Amino acid sequence: MTAGEDAADADADADGDAETVVRRDRFAGGPARGFMSSLAADERIFAADLAVDRAHTVMLAERGIVGDDEAAAILAGLDEVESAGHGALPDGEDVHEAIESAVVAEVGPVGGKMHTARSRNDEVAACIRYRYRADLLDAAETTLALREALLDAAAAHADTVLPGFTHRQYAQPVTVGHFLSSYAGAVERDTARLLAAFDTTNVSPLGGAAFGGTTFDVDRERTAALLGFDGVVENATDAASARDFLVEGTAALANLTATLSGLATDLIEHAKDGYFDPSDDYASTSSIMPQKVNPDTLELARAVAGDVSGDLTGLLTTLKGLPRAYNRDLQRATPHAWDAVDDATEATEVVAGAVATGEWDADACAADAGAGFSTATGVADALAAAGIPFRTAHEVVAEAAAAAPDDADAGTLAANLDSAAQEVLGESLYEYVSEETLDTALDPAGSVAARDSRGGPAPAAVVDSLARMTDTYGDHEAALAARRDALATAEAGLADAVADYV
Ligand code: ARG
Repeated sequence: MTAGEDAADADADADGDAETVVRRDRFAGGPARGFMSSLAADERIFAADLAVDRAHTVMLAERGIVGDDEAAAILAGLDEVESAGHGALPDGEDVHEAIESAVVAEVGPVGGKMHTARSRNDEVAACIRYRYRADLLDAAETTLALREALLDAAAAHADTVLPGFTHRQYAQPVTVGHFLSSYAGAVERDTARLLAAFDTTNVSPLGGAAFGGTTFDVDRERTAALLGFDGVVENATDAASARDFLVEGTAALANLTATLSGLATDLIEHAKDGYFDPSDDYASTSSIMPQKVNPDTLELARAVAGDVSGDLTGLLTTLKGLPRAYNRDLQRATPHAWDAVDDATEATEVVAGAVATGEWDADACAADAGAGFSTATGVADALAAAGIPFRTAHEVVAEAAAAAPDDADAGTLAANLDSAAQEVLGESLYEYVSEETLDTALDPAGSVAARDSRGGPAPAAVVDSLARMTDTYGDHEAALAARRDALATAEAGLADAVADYV
């Protein structure tokens, strides 16, 4: 806003058209009026703007920049505007201008003092940060819900043997618990990234004004504290310009949804193979093929990764090359961040529900766990443990595998292994390993139990991993609660500070 506007506000007619109170007739309209306005999208920051207006007004009064009575009038006007709601705002370029107009219309020219010592540039940045931090906490909370669902199902299936794949080929038997906790580990980092993005977001740009600070003796730390921000953006120009916090949050969400999309694909594949059965709540039927139960929710959740990575790209390409300080391009950057956080949060919730309510068919999993000679690595390991160099052991097993049909049973594989040993080593396999050792290595459950290194699929190793992951879950849950508490305390503090005037 320009300096002239305060003067315009000062003699605005309180009974005049609220629409023109703040900006008078200049720039009041024109064919691009709708194109320029963010008012509709700004509904999302309506409550944030009221909080920012209140904190700023309280600070102005505390510093003697406006009188206590003037602050009281403005704060009363803000209450009226709040009760009337976003829908009742006069038309305007954005919510900041519209609320100011509405306050002036409500309480008269004194309402124009609210905009002393600030610009819409620091104001909008404060509103976005105020709202976005809450959205990030909600997103982080759904990652906790997803982790809980994954950890619970993993604990329930710590010893349910499952085929493990690489390149979509049968690779090694694992357990359902091991598979699910691999995703719990990934989502753990998503929570951490969202909490970090919250911390980057949660600083106050207020007092930066347009970009060049202000002549008024403002207390930036005070408005920051009243709004629950952990500090201030130091440089006034940076305060007005910066949107990197939106990039950080959206990048965290893009990462999260990329992980979700992989989980969705795995579950879709496991449903196709009969290992995983999504509950009816998370499935859909075909309108023509009566027998079908389709994992549609997982497919939709998978697609969200595309939307969110598109939002990240939209955000970055909008910001790229923007000079300091405020440029109106920024108005079109913000909705990408809202869309991304809404879509990612919803998708995470849905996937958490699908994991929590789906069922695993232990028999179907076990039936395929040894398919494609997927115990081969364990057999090679057993031969290597008996003193055969691993490379040679690998050769023996590879030869046996090449000679075996895909659905070969353990007996056939044992016979093949022995002939391969005769060929490669010139002696029987049983010179090196007992029949019992070989049987265990060829048994998917035995193969899994033997891989008990930290983070491995052996049920005991999975149980250990789950305990560590549950500890970290508790840490993140506490970190989230501490942030929510701090925001709630600040909100109550702001209400108290306002109550001193009205
Ligand atoms: N509505 C704008 C936005 O969302 C904020 C207004 C700042 N406008 C300006 N011309 N300085 O970014």
